Amino acid sequence: MIQNDRAFIQSDLRAFIQAVDQGNQLAVVNGAHWDKEMGAVTEVLYRQKVEKSPMLLFDDVPGYPHGYRCLYGMFGSPLRLALAFGMDPGKSDNRLEMLDHFRNVIKKGFKQIPPKEVQGGPVLENILRDDQVDLLKFPVPIHHELDGGRYIGTACGVVTKDPDTGRVNIGTYRVEVVGRDTCTSYISNGKQGRIQRDKYLKAGKPCPVVVIIGCDPITYLAAGYTMADKIPELDWCGGLMDRPQEVIRGELTGLPFPARSEIVLEGEIMPDETAMEGPFGEWHGYYAGEARPEPVIRVKRIYHRNDPILTCAASQKPPHAHLFERCFLRSAALMDSLEGAGIPDVVGAWTHQAGSGRTFVAVSIKQRYHGHSTQVGLVASQVNPVGYVGRWIVVVDDDIDPTDLNDVIWAMGTRCDPKSRTTLLDNCWSSRLDTLVTDYGKLTNSRMVIDACKPYERYDEFPKVAQTSKELAAEVRAKYPQLFR
Ligand SMILES: Cc1cc2nc3c(=O)[nH]c(=O)nc-3n(C[C@H](O)[C@H](O)[C@H](O)COP(=O)(O)O)c2cc1C
Repeated sequence: MIQNDRAFIQSDLRAFIQAVDQGNQLAVVNGAHWDKEMGAVTEVLYRQKVEKSPMLLFDDVPGYPHGYRCLYGMFGSPLRLALAFGMDPGKSDNRLEMLDHFRNVIKKGFKQIPPKEVQGGPVLENILRDDQVDLLKFPVPIHHELDGGRYIGTACGVVTKDPDTGRVNIGTYRVEVVGRDTCTSYISNGKQGRIQRDKYLKAGKPCPVVVIIGCDPITYLAAGYTMADKIPELDWCGGLMDRPQEVIRGELTGLPFPARSEIVLEGEIMPDETAMEGPFGEWHGYYAGEARPEPVIRVKRIYHRNDPILTCAASQKPPHAHLFERCFLRSAALMDSLEGAGIPDVVGAWTHQAGSGRTFVAVSIKQRYHGHSTQVGLVASQVNPVGYVGRWIVVVDDDIDPTDLNDVIWAMGTRCDPKSRTTLLDNCWSSRLDTLVTDYGKLTNSRMVIDACKPYERYDEFPKVAQTSKELAAEVRAKYPQLFR
């Protein structure tokens, strides 16, 4: 029985872990090594069980004290994501319902609530200053075999402040350990943290920074969620949690971090010092080149709880342990974009794990007019989040579940004539990370829109589907409950 108390679950990482445990989705693994073993256990298990895989809490890591733990797969299942967002966990087997709920929470009466500063909190249980700083005090993992080093930040939040506007940003950007008190972070072009960082570095000044590793589920999800530039993540979190996030300000930088965080690093990104960063497995399941120089972060303070939990998210060939939440959030964003474009009767959308959460997306619609499905496919191919590095866009009818690949492929095989109902687009927005882009002076790709809806002119005459009706299915389920349990 899960104690579905939203305020409690959203209060910190440990409360969230407790709720996941009550939902029988937590496994504690003792003795796995930080050197590739934790990453491999997570990957092999997730590949086998996918969304049925538990969240993994590694303890007794060789060379580290009992209680210094690493956590993988925080939101790797619908139930875990439902718990984090305060949704009914009983409804977590219907992803479209979950999407509706999430989108309604975000829209309805959602008001940003600024954080509240507090003077103390569990994260101050241990403070390491200057010479005491040692990043490898924690069981920092090498996640996969070809990674360039130990990554202390993967499921983390990097906090920076715009020197002009004062806006505080939190983004999930990976952080690699370089030495006892130095690390680097890879922040790609255009990200808010990069824009803010570069303003300091271009002026020859160090950029104050805080890295949060392990915090309440909402702050972590906000860090990895692309929201409008003007919305401060902590205020968004407050809105979602219906209360101000309680934050402490770093001794040196004054930057805020949640008082109940697990581990927090505080320091400066240096304007004149770089170190090699990477390689690291990327979101699409490949390595994207060799190590490259990135600005060094000099860490001057570490704040951490007793028995700290280091949160981890290592991308790799899908499916993997932190892709479900990205697929979910991007699917919600796609539905918002289509609705925002004024398109009626979009019933559902899903960006699939098999497409790394970007390259294969299905949208279901209730067809209303000739050309409706073409309109949906073409618009979906260009708007956030598919507009960037999208590849395959499939439009299906509302009797097809867009989250179910079997359903989608069946529709493609029986309702789409490839010669007349597919559209090829060229010169679309892509990235250096796109495995098929070779011209780095022109980062574009092509993509295909597949109209797998019944032809509208034959909609009513289209062959009937050979499938048990909902009513009869409900009857037999009720009659033979043991069989269907
Ligand atoms: C687990 C995870 C790891 C990520 N790693 C990186 C990274 O290393 N570098 C990067 O630029 N973006 C990374 N991202 C994407 C950014 O966090 C995401 O685009 C976010 O919206 C950035 O925040 P911003 O919009 O405030 O810049 C990652 C996202 C997640 C969820």
